[in-house]
Amino acid sequence: MNFKITLLPGDGIGPEVVGEAVRVLEIISSKYEHSFNFQERLMGGCSIDQFGQSVTDETLADCKASDAVLLGAVGGPKWDDPKAKDRPERGLLALRKGLAVFANLRPVKVHPALIDASPLKPEKLKDVDILVVRELTGGLYFGQPKLREMKDGHERAVDTLEYFDYEIKRVVELAFNLAKSRKKKVTSVDKANILESSRMWRQIATQIGTENPDVELDHMLVDTASMRLITAPVSMDVIVTENMFGDILTDEASVLAGSMGMLPSASLGESGVGLPHEARVGLYEPIHGSAPDIAGKGIANPIGTILSSALMLRYSFKLEAEAAVIENAVYQTITEGARTADLGGKLSTRQMADEIIKNI
Ligand code: IPM
Ligand code: MG
Repeated sequence: MNFKITLLPGDGIGPEVVGEAVRVLEIISSKYEHSFNFQERLMGGCSIDQFGQSVTDETLADCKASDAVLLGAVGGPKWDDPKAKDRPERGLLALRKGLAVFANLRPVKVHPALIDASPLKPEKLKDVDILVVRELTGGLYFGQPKLREMKDGHERAVDTLEYFDYEIKRVVELAFNLAKSRKKKVTSVDKANILESSRMWRQIATQIGTENPDVELDHMLVDTASMRLITAPVSMDVIVTENMFGDILTDEASVLAGSMGMLPSASLGESGVGLPHEARVGLYEPIHGSAPDIAGKGIANPIGTILSSALMLRYSFKLEAEAAVIENAVYQTITEGARTADLGGKLSTRQMADEIIKNI
C-alpha cells in the first residue's frame, strides 16, 4: 500500500528522534512491501526563523493533503521571549486545530524491565497499562476571549475555558469505543465541584455511560486523579479528560513508564460523526518536548517517536500487524537491556534505533 507522510521534525531533539523513526518505517516498508512517501516541512521555531511564522498556510495545506503527520517536538529558549508575536507552540496548536484532531491518545505502559527506572515503588507499577484520551482542540488552550489589557489601572489577563456539548460528546464516545477493546472501564476526569464546563462534561459522560452499559464508568475530580495516578495506577484503565487536565496528567503519568522519552501519542479526528475531510489525517508525536539541554548531542531516546510511528500504522493506515512488529521490537530491545541516557544507559539515539531495527 501507498502512503504519504508529512514529517515535521521541529526543534531541539525533534529532528534526531524523527530521523530514527523514519529509518524504522523504511525497514517496515521494504519488509512488508508498502511505500511510504515522506515529505519534510518546517514547523515551530525553525519555521519562525525561516518564514517568520510558526506554521505557514502551505505547510498546513501539505499536512492536510497527506495520509498522516509525524511530528518531533517544538520550542526552545531561542523563541521564549514573552513579547514575541509568534511562538513555536502556536504552530502546534494551529496544526491540531487545522487537522481537527480532537482526541489525543496517550498510552502509558510500564515495561517490567524499566520498573526500577521509575521513582515509584516497584509493587505499584506492576501491570500498569493506562490509556489517557486527552481532548485536544478545545478548552483553555483555545477558548476566547484570550487577552491581556489594562483595566481600572491594573493589568489583567484572561483565558477562557469553553466547551461545546459536541466537543465533549465526540471525545468521550471515542474513549468508550477504545475501552471496549480493553478492560471496559472509563474514568472521566473533571473538576465538577468548581467548573461549569466540568459539570456539563460529567453530565454528557454520564449519558454516554448509560448508552454503553457494557463499559464501567466512574467520574473523578482531577486533583484526586492526579493522586490516584501515583498511589494506585493499576486501578486506572481508560482516562478521558479535557485538554489542560490531560496535558498535566500525562506528564505525571510518564513518570510511571520510567522516562518521558518512552511515551508516544496519536491525535485523531475520525469518529464517524460527519467530520470534515481533513479530520482523517492523524497526527503522531512523542509526548516529550524539544529538550534543548540535550539537543544536538545524539543522546535523546527515540522510542517515544518510534512508538508514535507504530500508532500511525495502526490508526491511520490500519496496518495492525506492522504496528505490533514495531511495538514488539521495542519491547524486546528494552528486555535485552538497551538503554539511552534518560534510562540510565549509554546508547546513543542512533544505537538505540539500531537495536530496535535488529529486532524487526
Ligand atoms: C504536549 C505539550 C504541548 C501541549 C505544548 C508543547 C504546547 O506540552 O503535547 O503535551 O501543551 O499540548
Ligand atoms: Mg504536555
